[in-house]
Amino acid sequence: MKNINLNIQKGEMLGIMGKNGAGKTTLIRTLNGLIRPSSGDVYINSENINSKSIAELSRFVGLIFQNPFHQLFANTVEEEIKFSLKNLFLNKDELQTKTNEILSNFNLDKYRDRSPLNLSGGESKKLAIASIICRDPEILVFDEPTLGQDAQEIESFIKLISSEKEKGKTILIITHNVEFAYEYIPRTILMGNGEIIADGPTQNVLNNDFLTEKSSLILPQTQQLSLALQEIGLQGIRKNISKNDIIRYLINLLKNKTISAQEE
Ligand SMILES: Nc1ncnc2c1ncn2[C@@H]1O[C@H](COP(=O)(O)OP(=O)(O)OP(=O)(O)O)[C@@H](O)[C@H]1O
Ligand SMILES: [Mg+2]
Repeated sequence: MKNINLNIQKGEMLGIMGKNGAGKTTLIRTLNGLIRPSSGDVYINSENINSKSIAELSRFVGLIFQNPFHQLFANTVEEEIKFSLKNLFLNKDELQTKTNEILSNFNLDKYRDRSPLNLSGGESKKLAIASIICRDPEILVFDEPTLGQDAQEIESFIKLISSEKEKGKTILIITHNVEFAYEYIPRTILMGNGEIIADGPTQNVLNNDFLTEKSSLILPQTQQLSLALQEIGLQGIRKNISKNDIIRYLINLLKNKTISAQEE
């Protein structure tokens, strides 16, 4: 990676996008000391983290891996959460109560005695998220959180990040999911060949043909449809219209057409 110059404000939600192999995972691994930059510095809360250990950094930076099995290791789901809570120094009862609470919040209590290895892809991803969130780090970094998740799980992920954002957490999300980024992530950096090739409001970045082509990204279907409708001269479609608004627009349009067809 080279020429990385990036400032992220406390409480901000930042998307990181770009082709396979662009350097997204490498970049976020520098935030908790898993990778040390060969030159340059990383600061968190105005402190240079280069001399801080991974253990120290993991109190501030919760990194949820692209592959949950790179982070899960306990024999059971319950032990996985208990191990994560270990350095909060809770007593036995508090530890059990907190563990139960987390398992229930993430809908994982029915799997508490199961080995994480025997969870489905989506369930293991959820456990990986739960095992980091339970420590309440102030910076949350998700590496492709929506990958392999069904619509309901994506919905609960969106609720989760909204509530973490409300608590003032800084949230970084690596994603290839343009629909998700377009709707929920205000600012996005685009990476290519180990460099940041764009940084700005997500909707601007994704509406730039040159950038999306370079990064093999496709504009969300809603936006493609709205551009096509504008092209054939339909009025009343705003730029960056949301999915729900375009559905409502089309329903009204079709209703009016049906009414006038009946009148003829
Ligand atoms: N430990 C490593 N040693 C050497 N090269 C590595 C290592 N890890 C990753 N790379 C290389 O660095 C480049 C960036 O990898 P990285 O994992 O950061 O990509 P990415 O943007 O996260 O891609 P993806 O979308 O596929 O997850 C790739 O070419 C990769 O092969
Ligand atoms: Mg990656």
